[in-house]
Amino acid sequence: MATQLIFDKGLANTVAAETSLSFIDGEKGVLEYVGIEIDALARQSTFEETTFLLWNRRLPSQDELSSFERDLRKEYELPSGMIDMVRKIPRSAPPMHALRTLISALSFFDLEADVNTPAANARKAMRLVARTPGLIAAFDRHRKGKPIILADARFGIAEDFLRMLNGTEPTVAMARAFDVCLILHADHGLNASTFAARVTISTLSDMYSAMTSAVGTLKGPLHGGANEGVMHMLEEIGTMDRVDGWVQERIGQKDKIMGFGHRIYKSYDPRATYLKTFSQKIASDTGNTRLYEMSRRIEEIMHEAVAAKGIYPNVDFYSATTYASLGLDIDLFTCLFAMSRMSGWTGHCIEQLEGNRLIRPHAEYKGPHGVKYLPISQR
Ligand code: CMC
Repeated sequence: MATQLIFDKGLANTVAAETSLSFIDGEKGVLEYVGIEIDALARQSTFEETTFLLWNRRLPSQDELSSFERDLRKEYELPSGMIDMVRKIPRSAPPMHALRTLISALSFFDLEADVNTPAANARKAMRLVARTPGLIAAFDRHRKGKPIILADARFGIAEDFLRMLNGTEPTVAMARAFDVCLILHADHGLNASTFAARVTISTLSDMYSAMTSAVGTLKGPLHGGANEGVMHMLEEIGTMDRVDGWVQERIGQKDKIMGFGHRIYKSYDPRATYLKTFSQKIASDTGNTRLYEMSRRIEEIMHEAVAAKGIYPNVDFYSATTYASLGLDIDLFTCLFAMSRMSGWTGHCIEQLEGNRLIRPHAEYKGPHGVKYLPISQR
């Protein structure tokens, strides 16, 4: 019997995987990791504990968490060959291009790269989450002509990343703010990059290949690249008095405004709710409120114009101003997203392999049939 195929452009109405990692109710604006509301995790958890949660699908005991953190820290150190690779990348390379290549290159230094057992994959997931921060920081310092700073196992991931990047230990408040950003971005259903990772691992390729696919997919401006787009928009607008004219003109031209809209959320993205409050607090603490005020005004105009269509700020809208307030460079924003999502991507690969079936949809052929092959001399 012929299988009935349904064409679903963009797979918007297709359920292509089962997952126990995260749940999204796009109408009500709910996001849960393994049943726990994102707000509770953002307020009380850490990126390390959230990663444990996503990989084990339960919260750890204190002993389990301590041992998990120790195991992660043991994997911080980059193989020396990786530092050589970082130094060979042209300084002008955009960070997401560098990261995509470096994540791929990590496999050269992992003897288990092609071992697809659950235990080996768990170890590779650990190495990927532990080493991505060091790679991003090392490339950033290399491109700025500064000495590379190695990881230090005395620190947690968020704190150590900011230390490796800036060369100074961050304040407790900065490290916590960044840790919360990592929690908020760690997983999000079958988003495009997670899907790419699951497609790759479903061929029984390897975890590094799956992460390379995911990083390349996240980079696009319709996905993780939108956070950089938001900052470029704010820079282009420049001052508060130009916001209304700029946004109205783009709406009139039916342009997409970066940081708004979502395939699943048709109400406020709960991560944006959290980041908005966060961004406001950092702005008032530092006295630098310009970007936050401009963002608020953009949101008001967009609300009047397109909220009826279900378009609200997404995670990228206020994460952009939050990262900027933390003094992070705009072209690193999507790398920071990747650093966090690494825990969700690897968790999804582990889950995919637990009940794997090759992901291989159909395409509807729209071309001609029966065309004669003409030898090149007759064309
Ligand atoms: N600004 C203005 N109008 C918008 C926007 C926007 N950002 N997003 C969607 N629309 C309109 C769109 O023009 C269309 O209107 P109409 O029905 O009148 O033609 C309608 O909303 C549906 O849009 P769509 O592009 O068909 O929706 P989609 O589900 O295919 O796309 C999206 C979702 C996220 C790609 C899209 O909203 C978008 O391009 N947003 C801007 C980029 C962005 O912020 N991306 C980050 C997404 S969240 C983080 C992540 O997952 O990485």
